[in-house]
Amino acid sequence: MAFQIPRGTQDILPGDSEKWQYVEQVARELCSRYGYREIRTPIFEHTELFLRGVGDTTDIVQKEMYTFEDKGGRALTLRPEGTAPVVRAFVEHKLYGSPNQPLKLYYSGPMFRYERPEAGRFRQFVQFGVEALGSGDPAMDAEVMALAMHIYEALGLKRIRLVINSLGDLDSRRAHREALVRHFSGRIDELCADCQARLETNPLRILDCKKDRDHELMATAPSILDYLNDESRAYFEKVKHYLAMLGLPFVIDARLVRGLDYYNHTTFEIMSEAEGFGAAATLCGGGRYNGLVEEIGGPEMPGIGFALSIERLLAALEAEGVELPTGEGIDCYVAALGERAKEEAVRLVYQLRRAGLRVDQDYVGRKLKAQLKAADRLKAAFVVMIGDEELDKQIATVKEMASGEQTNVPFGELASFFTERTRREGE
Ligand code: HAM
Repeated sequence: MAFQIPRGTQDILPGDSEKWQYVEQVARELCSRYGYREIRTPIFEHTELFLRGVGDTTDIVQKEMYTFEDKGGRALTLRPEGTAPVVRAFVEHKLYGSPNQPLKLYYSGPMFRYERPEAGRFRQFVQFGVEALGSGDPAMDAEVMALAMHIYEALGLKRIRLVINSLGDLDSRRAHREALVRHFSGRIDELCADCQARLETNPLRILDCKKDRDHELMATAPSILDYLNDESRAYFEKVKHYLAMLGLPFVIDARLVRGLDYYNHTTFEIMSEAEGFGAAATLCGGGRYNGLVEEIGGPEMPGIGFALSIERLLAALEAEGVELPTGEGIDCYVAALGERAKEEAVRLVYQLRRAGLRVDQDYVGRKLKAQLKAADRLKAAFVVMIGDEELDKQIATVKEMASGEQTNVPFGELASFFTERTRREGE
């Protein structure tokens, strides 16, 4: 029986892996420009971290975690998201004690959620995310959103929309919670069993129920924005002011509550509006999580961040017809005719690679004609041909594939010949 990849996962093959490298490189470069530095945390954590961090009444914790017991009897979980682990590391290494506040971090790596796989939804997916810890300044919120938008724009996405909301502080959330309970209580039996349980445990979660999304009670539910206290309202006004100042268009959606429990004040998502890009339209999600550091055992300290998935980013780029590098093409292919020439080819290829060129040769005993075809398939810019005559003279025949033009180049000058040519092309 042939093996198949597990459901909801994917292999990234050459031709695609270059696209991944490219988008990650652009995102990393922008993070560094904004002053964010990379953090790498383990792929699994103690299960308790996510119960506390993400919240034990969320769908992620209740339905979607890959949790297992290791041979030492510990309850471990493949990370479903990156914020709780980053905050755990922040607290564990006492990074809050550093004079460099806020501490601005980014990460990139696989996350795991047992979700129903569909377009843009995977069980293993890669999140690129940032977390800024130690600042409660609304300008920080604007910076984080600007960075996310900048990444998409730098990659060439045009049809994206920034959607924002505020959940307010603890007081505002409490007032809203009571209003939600009043709203849903009388007719809760019309909603699914999960929502009935949520009414007791976490009424806000009713608003992001996937099953009851279109129920009439959802559209008429009390809006959090009507329950913001003065302080929360003022904070939200400042965030909007900074976004406007930066020229970042946004829309407000009072129903944007997000699926994780740690949020307060600003929440946001970036959606794709590209045609035919339906179900997985949310490219990026984030928000403020003042209180999470304390929840995980650190001092009281504000934080804000976002995460985007590379899978959805690539799908959005494709939907908008943006071309990305595929890694195809080499500088030169060394074709050899005969045993002696083969020996020379092995030496030459290594020498040219050492000189910084992308070079290849035949390893499966092809005839000269087949070697030239192979060079074509590899999209070689040049082919170096060597046979007995070239060996005797120590001069290679070099063919430029695009023009068909042939030149004779002494072996010793091949490296500089190509370095010169490829540099000129790159300019
Ligand atoms: P999240 O909304 O759960 O937030 O996930 C963020 C992004 O990850 C989503 O917008 C989506 O692009 C992607 N994503 C989520 N689930 C899947 C999936 N099954 N397949 C493909 N992509 C997926 C968080 O994870 C928060 N930790 C974000 C954050 C960081 N908030 C503050 N800091």
